[in-house]
Amino acid sequence: MFLKIFTVLLIIVTFVNTSKVTFNGHRVYKVIPNNDNEKEVIINTQKQGIGELWLDQFDVRDGVRITVAPEKNQQFLDTMNKNDIEYKEVIADLQQVIDDQLKSASRSDRSTSFLSFDWDRYHTLDEIYNWLDQLQVNYPNIVTTVVMGRSVENREIKGIKINYNPNRNTTLIGMIEGTLHAREWIVPATATWIIKEFLTSTDPEMKALAKNIEWHIFPVVNPDGYVYTFTTHRMWRKNRSTRNFTSCASTGVDDDMSNGVDLNRNFDFAWMEVGASDNPCTNTFAGPFALSEPEARAVADYVLTLNNQGRLIYYFGLHSYTQLIVVPYSHITAEESAKLINYADMYEIAVRGAEKLKERFGTEYRVGVSADIMYPMSGTSFDWVKNVTDVPVSFLIELRDLGEYGFLLPASQIIPNNLEIMDALLEIDRTTRRLGYYYSGTNNLISSLTLIVFSIFVKLFVN
Ligand SMILES: *[C@@H]1O[C@H](CO)[C@@H](O)[C@H](O)[C@H]1NC(C)=O
Ligand SMILES: *[C@@H]1O[C@H](CO)[C@@H](O)[C@H](O)[C@H]1NC(C)=O
Ligand SMILES: *[C@@H]1O[C@H](CO)[C@@H](O)[C@H](O)[C@H]1NC(C)=O
Ligand SMILES: *[C@@H]1O[C@H](CO)[C@@H](O)[C@H](O)[C@H]1NC(C)=O
Ligand SMILES: [Zn+2]
Repeated sequence: MFLKIFTVLLIIVTFVNTSKVTFNGHRVYKVIPNNDNEKEVIINTQKQGIGELWLDQFDVRDGVRITVAPEKNQQFLDTMNKNDIEYKEVIADLQQVIDDQLKSASRSDRSTSFLSFDWDRYHTLDEIYNWLDQLQVNYPNIVTTVVMGRSVENREIKGIKINYNPNRNTTLIGMIEGTLHAREWIVPATATWIIKEFLTSTDPEMKALAKNIEWHIFPVVNPDGYVYTFTTHRMWRKNRSTRNFTSCASTGVDDDMSNGVDLNRNFDFAWMEVGASDNPCTNTFAGPFALSEPEARAVADYVLTLNNQGRLIYYFGLHSYTQLIVVPYSHITAEESAKLINYADMYEIAVRGAEKLKERFGTEYRVGVSADIMYPMSGTSFDWVKNVTDVPVSFLIELRDLGEYGFLLPASQIIPNNLEIMDALLEIDRTTRRLGYYYSGTNNLISSLTLIVFSIFVKLFVN
């Protein structure tokens, strides 16, 4: 009798523990809408629960991926055929790709490891946080771990400060914010690589970039969501907020979608104006009000504090995927942005970065305001930071790839991605200095004079 009850309990416990969402047999199709009507049909397949789109918004002629469960497959094919929409199966079994992503990349040596960490596989939150703690122990005079706040589920939002020169008079500050969106695993893999380079690189320019600026780097600002992508739902994007819980089952989407706020729509600048949703059952739910979420508030408060402590020079928000360097502002056009801020300079800085990035492996990044290269959106962190601090350079960077794997980028691409991003960062910094936003030993009076002469020369010829 006792044993029986125990067995039943065990079964219940096992059942609860295995509530991990799996995608066995789920196919991924690439569809290309040729007109607004076809686009509408594709959006409706999601609304009707036939499939889940990989991108929240897309344009006519964009290739968009859509995940389709086995039991919906025939319905999906019928809908596409009936409407004469081109489709192509690009992944036969999504779970296989999810499992593959957890495997280490093969390698011939361990040269890329640093303390307990390497970049041949993706790491859990605990591994990342443990590594940050080790850095403080190993670089006591340079690295300080910082907790900027706590998440809804009370996890620390932990990052580090890198400061080679605590006694300097004017502190130039750079901040890198990673993983507002939970499922974008390449982001913490990139942020941690940047930290490694700033601490260990022997390249003189890299060392100068690390030392000229006091860096604040937070690989995972949405820790609850990140953990959730490991334990339960690999494709999760939002935080785990339940405040606005409404059952979404009736709308045809996964009922779990009822939880969570899109943190990159929750900031207090142009909040809910465009490209954000007031419907909790969507992936771009902006929250009940601006800065409603503790994670977004923590980032905002931290940025305001930094802005009082020194001169903020760089703000980079890292995301994936689509290979973009996005320049503010996201809710308006480039022309309108140029009237408000140093848009032209930021655009040039981003273009130079993207050109340099391409040199190593040929990877192409596009540059511009979100409305031009993605879609208009509002309530994002990097726009808010630009507006509130007028930091000279504030970019949202969408890392690899273009959608072949999307959020499921194989571990073998981590290091190539990181190498090209470092190339871009160095070039971004060179250009920022060349345009006079700050000076360091590496751009002395002579190069400034050269620039002035060159500018006059160009102006004469262009006019
Ligand atoms: C998500 O947002 C809710 C507020 O709606 C908040 O209470 C919760 O802590 C957030 N969860 C995470 C993981 O940030
Ligand atoms: C910092 O400023 C003080 C006076 O404001 C000056 O005496 C000192 O030389 C400066 N130190 C550096 C490193 O520039
Ligand atoms: C979300 O919850 C808040 C109260 O916490 C409420 O004011 C707001 O109207 C709700 N929003 C939606 C879309 O349900
Ligand atoms: C910030 O936004 C406000 C309101 O849109 C605008 O008036 C102001 O010029 C902006 N400031 C900057 C630096 O963009
Ligand atoms: Zn994102």
